[in-house]
Amino acid sequence: MSAERLVNPHSDSDDQQVEKSLRPRTLSEFIGQEKVVEQLRIAIAAARGRNEALDHTLFYGPPGLGKTSLANVVANEMGAKIKITSGPAIERAGDLAAILTNLQANDVLFIDEVHRLNRVVEEVLYPAMEDFALDLVVGKGPGARSLRLTLPRFTVIGATTRLALLTSPLRDRFGSVHRLVFYSDDAMAEIVNRSARILGVPISAEGAREIGRRARGTPRIANRILRRVRDYAQVVASGVITLEVARAALAQLEIDELGLDENDRRLLRAIIELFNGGPVGLSTLAAALAEEVDAIEDVYEPFLLQLGFLQRTPRGRVATRRAYEHLGVPYPERALPPDDDNGPQQGTLF
Ligand SMILES: Nc1ncnc2c1ncn2[C@@H]1O[C@H](COP(=O)(O)OP(=O)(O)OP(=O)(O)O)[C@@H](O)[C@H]1O
Ligand SMILES: [Mg+2]
Repeated sequence: MSAERLVNPHSDSDDQQVEKSLRPRTLSEFIGQEKVVEQLRIAIAAARGRNEALDHTLFYGPPGLGKTSLANVVANEMGAKIKITSGPAIERAGDLAAILTNLQANDVLFIDEVHRLNRVVEEVLYPAMEDFALDLVVGKGPGARSLRLTLPRFTVIGATTRLALLTSPLRDRFGSVHRLVFYSDDAMAEIVNRSARILGVPISAEGAREIGRRARGTPRIANRILRRVRDYAQVVASGVITLEVARAALAQLEIDELGLDENDRRLLRAIIELFNGGPVGLSTLAAALAEEVDAIEDVYEPFLLQLGFLQRTPRGRVATRRAYEHLGVPYPERALPPDDDNGPQQGTLF
C-alpha cells in the first residue's frame, strides 16, 4: 500500500463513504476548533433569533481539517437546505445563474475550492452575495437590456485551502472568515475515540491517543490511519487497538514519532541533500521531487512549517536545524545567508 494514499488528505479513494459516516453533524458533535465553533454558535443563534439567513461565511485552512464538515453542520444548525458545488464545477455564468435562481430563502450554497471560481462567474456572484440580485442581459445587439432579478436571502459558505488565492472583492463579501488550525493532541484523541466508536472498533485510550498524536493534527488522516490500524489489529493482533498494536501498525505504515511519512521525509531530505538545506525555490523543489507545486504547498508544507522544520524565506524554502535533527543528519554550522536581495534568485518565491 502506498503511504501517499494514507497521508494525502485529499480524498480520492473508496474510503469516501466511511468518511461521510464519520462526519460530525452538529456543533456539539464537532470536536476542537473551539474559537470557530463558539463564534458560529453565536452567529447561528442570532440569525435564527431574527429569522434571517446567516451571513456569508468562509472557512480556510489545510485539507482534512473539517471545512466541508462545518459547512454541513452550519446548514444543519440553521435548519437550512444545503446545495453543494465547487469553484471548478461552475464553468459558465449561466451555470451559477441556474443555481441561484433555484435557491429558496435561507438556503445554504456551499462552494468548495472557492478560489477556483473563474472571473466571469465571480462577477455574477458579487451582486448575488451583496444585494441578492442577479443581473441578466436579455436580447442581443442594440436592443439588449439588462434585467435585475431579486433573489431570496441565502447564505454562501465558501471553503478554500488557499486564502491568498481569493480575489479581494470576493473575500470582502464574506461577512465572517474563519481559519481552521491543526487540532491539539487532546482533540485528536477524542476524534479517534469517536470514530472508533462509530466504526465499532475496540480501542484503548492510549491507542487512541497514539493514533491521534501521529496524524498531523488532521482528522481525516486520523480516520484513515485508524482504519489501517484496525486491519492490522484484526489480522496480526487480537482485534483490539492497544498502545502496542497502534505502535506496531504505525511502524509498519512508516509513520514516524511526529506523524511524518515517507513523503514528508523525502521532501526534507531533498532540501538537505540536494540543495544544501536551502534556500530552494518552490518550483525547483517540486521538479526535484516530481511533485506538483500545489501538492507541496497544500498538503506537505503546512504541517512541516507548523513543526518548525521548514522556513519560507524570500529566497525559498530552508530546512531548519530541527529538521536535520529529526532526520539524524548533522547540522552544518554556517552563517545563514543574509536576507537581502543580492543573492541569486532561485525559482519561484512564495
Ligand atoms: N471536528 C471534527 N470532529 C470529528 N471529525 C472530524 C472533525 N473535522 C473533520 N472530521 C473528520 O475528518 C474528515 C475530513 O473533514 P472535511 O472533509 O470536512 O475536511 P475539509 O477541510 O473539507 O478537507 P478538504 O480541504 O480536503 O476538502 C471528515 O469526514 C470527518 O470525519
Ligand atoms: Mg472539503
